[in-house]
Formats: sequence, C-alpha cells, structure tokens
Amino acid sequence: MKKVLVSASLMCADMMNMGKSLAELEAVGTDYLHIDVMDGSFVPNFALGTDFCRALKANSKLPLDIHLMINDPLYKFDKFPCDENDVIAVHYESCVDVHRILCAIREKGAKAFLAINPATPIEIIRECMPVLDGALIMTVNPGFAGQKIFPGAFDKVERTRKLLDTADHEIILEVDGNVSFANIPRLTEAGADMIVVGSSSLFSKEGTMAENMAKMQSLYR
Ligand code: DX5
Ligand code: ZN
Repeated sequence: MKKVLVSASLMCADMMNMGKSLAELEAVGTDYLHIDVMDGSFVPNFALGTDFCRALKANSKLPLDIHLMINDPLYKFDKFPCDENDVIAVHYESCVDVHRILCAIREKGAKAFLAINPATPIEIIRECMPVLDGALIMTVNPGFAGQKIFPGAFDKVERTRKLLDTADHEIILEVDGNVSFANIPRLTEAGADMIVVGSSSLFSKEGTMAENMAKMQSLYR
C-alpha cells in the first residue's frame, strides 16, 4: 500500500475531550497533528494557538504540523514549540519575504513547508524549492472546516507533483481541505503524499476513528 502521511486536523477534533482524541489518534496510526493557527486577519476566523501547541507537545508524542494562517509570520513563528520532527507551514500570501522565513524555520530546526491558496500559481514554489521540505496545496479557501474542494484542485496537485519531482531532494506534497473519502483516491493519485484530514474523513461521523482510518487507507492510489 502506498505510504501517505496522515495529518489529523485538530480543529475538527472534540475540543472538550482532546486527551481522549490524542490517544485515539495515536492508536489508529496518525502521523502528524495538524494545528490550524488563525489570526482573524489573514483568514476570517480564529483558531488554535501557541499554548495549545505547547500542551500537545507535553501530552502527545506525535509530531506537530503547524499551519500558520496568520499575517506577518516572520515575527511570530518562533513563538511556537517545534523540533526536527515538526512542520511549520507558512502562506506565501502572508509573507513579505518568503525565502527569509523558510530559511528561518529550518534554522529553528523544523521542517519548512510553503502553503499556497487556490488562486496562487504553483510557480511561486519553484523559486523556493531549494529551501523547502514540503508544499501545502490548499484545496479549499483557508479558514474553515467542512468546505468543498475547489474545481481544478486535482489538476493543481498533479502539476505541483511534477514540479516538486524536479527538485534535487524530496519535497512532500501536502493537501488541505475537504480531503474526503470521495476525494482521497484522486488526490493521492495526483501525487499528494501527506493529507490533512478533518470532518470529511478521519473525524467523519460515518464511523469510528479506526474505521475511518482503515477506509482512508483503502482509498490511496
Ligand atoms: C481548512 C482546514 C482544514 C480542513 C478540515 O482551512 O485547515 O483543517 O479543511 O477538514 P475538512 O475540510 O475535511 O473539514
Ligand atoms: Zn490547515
């Protein structure tokens, strides 16, 4: 079976029983904890923050996949706890000097991922590839769970995969937004090797977390 990294979107977890959710996520083989950090300015929503990330580091052995949907991340990313196993993803659209912050994330010891919104061309990624560990392709407009994938997302993932495969080192292709049971086959076939999963799959009410994880894994192409 193809290896696809599973990054569980904690904004979709049961906030009132996070300890139980973390234990379940570890038990079903989750690879990363996806933390959507939102400032109400870069995206029209607020969500998780630094204290939550510190609590996760103290209560789970799973690495963090910190998705910064915030303005001016250069002066803020350093407030988040991270080590060599963790990911910090910044949005191209929120950076004045994206190359500088990607280098700074790597200097901090974390993996540097560049996130781009649906309307942002993938050519932006090309210039950053030498300092990239991953590219995060938003398959919805960032900020809210429960949205629908945008038309053309699969094609964009396929074009991004082809671009990343020209790099002289491995660059992970992460997708974020409506990674549903129905969309997983086409997204993984298009080249996604890390999936952010939330209300439309891993946390779906259709089954238990174990059942949903097994169903997701059966859909990888
Ligand atoms: C989108 C969020 C994601 C994801 C949630 O901004 O960052 O966490 O969409 O999962 P779904 O889309 O399945 O509810
Ligand atoms: Zn996200």
